[in-house]
Amino acid sequence: MKDQIDKIINEAEQFAITTIDQLESYKIRFLVKKGLVNQLFIDFKDLASEEKKILGKELNVLKSRVEELYNNAEVELRSAQSVNKKINPLPGYYSELGSRHPISAIIDEMTSIFERLGFSISTGPEIEDDWHNFSALNFPYNHPARDMQDTFFVDDEIALRTHTSSVQVRLMEEGNLPIRSIMPGRVYRNEAISARSNCFFHQVEGLYIDKGVSFSDLKQTLYNFVQEFFGTNTRVRFRASYFPFTEPSAEMDIYLGLDTESDYRLTKGTGWLEILGCGMVDPNVLENCKIDTSLYSGFAFGLGVDRMAMLKFGVKDLRTFFNGDKRFLEQFSSL
Ligand code: PHE
Repeated sequence: MKDQIDKIINEAEQFAITTIDQLESYKIRFLVKKGLVNQLFIDFKDLASEEKKILGKELNVLKSRVEELYNNAEVELRSAQSVNKKINPLPGYYSELGSRHPISAIIDEMTSIFERLGFSISTGPEIEDDWHNFSALNFPYNHPARDMQDTFFVDDEIALRTHTSSVQVRLMEEGNLPIRSIMPGRVYRNEAISARSNCFFHQVEGLYIDKGVSFSDLKQTLYNFVQEFFGTNTRVRFRASYFPFTEPSAEMDIYLGLDTESDYRLTKGTGWLEILGCGMVDPNVLENCKIDTSLYSGFAFGLGVDRMAMLKFGVKDLRTFFNGDKRFLEQFSSL
């Protein structure tokens, strides 16, 4: 038994304990009920009393030595762990994936509906000249119609575009007929900023020019869009309106109902919400762009994106889309 005691002390002293796992293995090998040390105590019971006297002491020395090695290693490992924690005071980097902005998601949804109807996508500059934003679109110089769109002028000739109709002019001037295209983009107007209006917003406008295009084509295209975007049971109505570049002109409303307080507020108590302006392109505009009006006619429409996004997502204050608050934007990360 003396030999065994020496062997175990030796082994315990050689045992490398540098991790918590190794500490656990050490405990299992030496210190648990079925471990090596306890086994010797069991064998000890069967020894002759003469031997017990000598080996009893040795056995106790063995036990306390093995325990001491265990305790020292444990203290060391635990303090190393807390040191590790201390020397790492910065929070770890955790990189977040960005996601699409809710306004972009709505623009994508709208454009994909029109793409399925055969429309292509066109874009143009946000800083625009007078001709493309106004004059070609039948807004005479110094005409009060220009006040309809509170314009940010850069100088007499240049302004931030007030609508993406400017892209329609550019497209018509290129002269590749027929044209069936939509123009998504940001536009600017000098309006007081509030929960419901901003000094910039987003539009998806559309233009269709071909031989024999009629108002019923316009209506059918917009019905189609509304059914895809808002659902097949959506009620719509057209109201006569005025735009310098279309004749006849209309605005289209969808029926929201009057179920909630916000329905009342949004629809001013009527249940109907205006979502777009539209009309047959005025022949003057076609002629300004050198399109033969004896052959071609067309329709145009312009949808406001931001209000649609407010409707779809139940957002009450337009400004929250653009103030860059991550807590707001993160709610749309699944789009
Ligand atoms: N350009 C108009 C606006 O911004 C919208 C519109 C487009 C109306 C096309 C009719 C036809 O208000």
